[in-house]
Amino acid sequence: MNRPADILGVNLAGVALRNPVILAAGTCGYLDEMNDAIDLARVGAVVTKSITRLPRDGNATWRIIETRSGMMNAIGLANVGVEAFSREIAPRVASVPTTVIGSIAGFSIDDYVAVAAAMDDCDAIQAVEINVSCPNVHGGTEFGADPRSLSELVRALRPVLSRARLFVKLSPIANGPLPIKDVARSAIEAGAQPAGPNSRPGADAICLANTMPAMAIDVHSRRPRLANITGGLSGPAIHPIAVKLVHDCYRAIAKDTSTPIIGIGGVLSWEDAAEFILAGASAVEMGTSLFVDPRSPLKVIAGLEKWARAQGAARISDLVGGVKLE
Ligand SMILES: Cc1cc2nc3c(=O)[nH]c(=O)nc-3n(C[C@H](O)[C@H](O)[C@H](O)COP(=O)(O)O)c2cc1C
Repeated sequence: MNRPADILGVNLAGVALRNPVILAAGTCGYLDEMNDAIDLARVGAVVTKSITRLPRDGNATWRIIETRSGMMNAIGLANVGVEAFSREIAPRVASVPTTVIGSIAGFSIDDYVAVAAAMDDCDAIQAVEINVSCPNVHGGTEFGADPRSLSELVRALRPVLSRARLFVKLSPIANGPLPIKDVARSAIEAGAQPAGPNSRPGADAICLANTMPAMAIDVHSRRPRLANITGGLSGPAIHPIAVKLVHDCYRAIAKDTSTPIIGIGGVLSWEDAAEFILAGASAVEMGTSLFVDPRSPLKVIAGLEKWARAQGAARISDLVGGVKLE
């Protein structure tokens, strides 16, 4: 009988995870703060808070609220900035008992490149996740909204990353009039020719997706509930939207180019994670669920293992894209 690691182990473009369940950017502290609540040695990976070139206070409060449809946030990328990250956080990465993915946000190509270079310097960061999809800051979705700008950004980042893999996190709506597959294609095929047999011209993996731009109003005061007026909706309401994005992207480009997809949005149970896998995701991230129950990823991991066995799969990756359409 396979041990859990054997059946649940996944490989994301060369980054080996013990299972496909990852703690999402911005929802689990900078790095390992969740270790008090959940044994990080048991999750597939953690993603850091998005780091920008300069420190940021973020938006005024209220900046996190609960709604009947899920959670809304307008944190505004509050973070210590890359210098403090390199000085205080990066030295601790090697002691985190799971894979660490560094999240990067920015407002210009130079911003992203500066943070990517600092993260690539930290040997223990195995991949960087480029957040081109933050709805809560001016210009936060610009790179994810325009395939040409996104290709340019990915092309600028490739040479900076000598070691760390490049994951690109897209917005559920950043595609505007373009289908998500075209935006994903611009990230995956950004560069001209791959440098070697194991390197790609563009992104190594695609993360789908970030929060959905949204608004909530207090009808008594008639004021927006978030100080930023609008925010990003996360949780169960966005899950079916993200499943479709994964399905579309997998069938249009990711499958043929063997580009792993990470499904993000409203994973609260193992069934939600299994849906993402059948739609074409190789792994999933969990965010809002951690605010409800920080140990919920362990239940999702256990459920996925049982499900994979019940489906007769030797490895969970055999089920990727396995939705039956006829
Ligand atoms: C409080 C909060 C802070 C977040 N901060 C970030 C962030 O810094 N960078 C990022 O890429 N996504 C951030 N996100 C988005 C999550 O990583 C995730 O994409 C989104 O919440 C959808 O997943 P979920 O429905 O499982 O929460 C944040 C989400 C929340 C709720």
